[in-house]
Amino acid sequence: MITAGPTYEAIDPVRFIGNHSSGKMGIALAQEMAARGAHVQLILGPTTVNSNHLNIQTTHVTTADEMFEQAKAVHSSSDICIFAAAVADYSPAHPATEKLKKKDSRLSIELKKNVDIAAELGKIKSTQQIHIGFALETQNGEENALQKLTQKNFDLIVLNSTKDEGAGFKHDTNKVTLYFRNGTKEVSELLPKKAIASLIAEGIKKTKN
Ligand code: PMT
Repeated sequence: MITAGPTYEAIDPVRFIGNHSSGKMGIALAQEMAARGAHVQLILGPTTVNSNHLNIQTTHVTTADEMFEQAKAVHSSSDICIFAAAVADYSPAHPATEKLKKKDSRLSIELKKNVDIAAELGKIKSTQQIHIGFALETQNGEENALQKLTQKNFDLIVLNSTKDEGAGFKHDTNKVTLYFRNGTKEVSELLPKKAIASLIAEGIKKTKN
């Protein structure tokens, strides 16, 4: 199972809260895992990027709640779960049913916390299952990644930083550090996302060491 892309959380019928994820990293992982023989359930947020492998079954979702429902449905039958999606942490508490009209000079939107998909599924993960998370950070990368590794019960976390040129959102390249549960880490060069996906696939093999 792979989650990928952004989520969009409706403010009103024409506006949303989202982020810059293109889905490229998650789709590169889906392609890589499928090429290695996996049957991939790709749960993909709104993007125009596509996958093209017969072993990839894609479910399109829009919101964090929808992504969670789909992930929950396939989790128990998945050996490896990769959480590459950039899920919105908050969504409007009361999305408007009609388009909001321009009125006052300021507008406040009340936000509520979304479900943390990786953390929730991490709670029910079996000892056979492998969970791989991502951490997208702007600062204190290592500290934040290691915290997420344990808090979300990942076996491996992949840190990428918005501070590294050519890394993170939208690019065809990425630069990552893999952190394993046994305390080891592997730092990559700036590489095409396809090559990063291959590094992560090799990393997955080492998670049970
Ligand atoms: O899609 P691209 O344009 O190719 O960009 C790739 C990427 C930058 C989106 C990707 O490499 C990446 O870093 N994905 C995770 C982004 C993120 O939301 O990181 P986070 O540090 O906020 O979340 C930590 C982990 O928890 C992630 O595995 C995330 O998928 C998961 N999560 C977070 C919040 C939430 N509500 N549910 C989750 O499952």
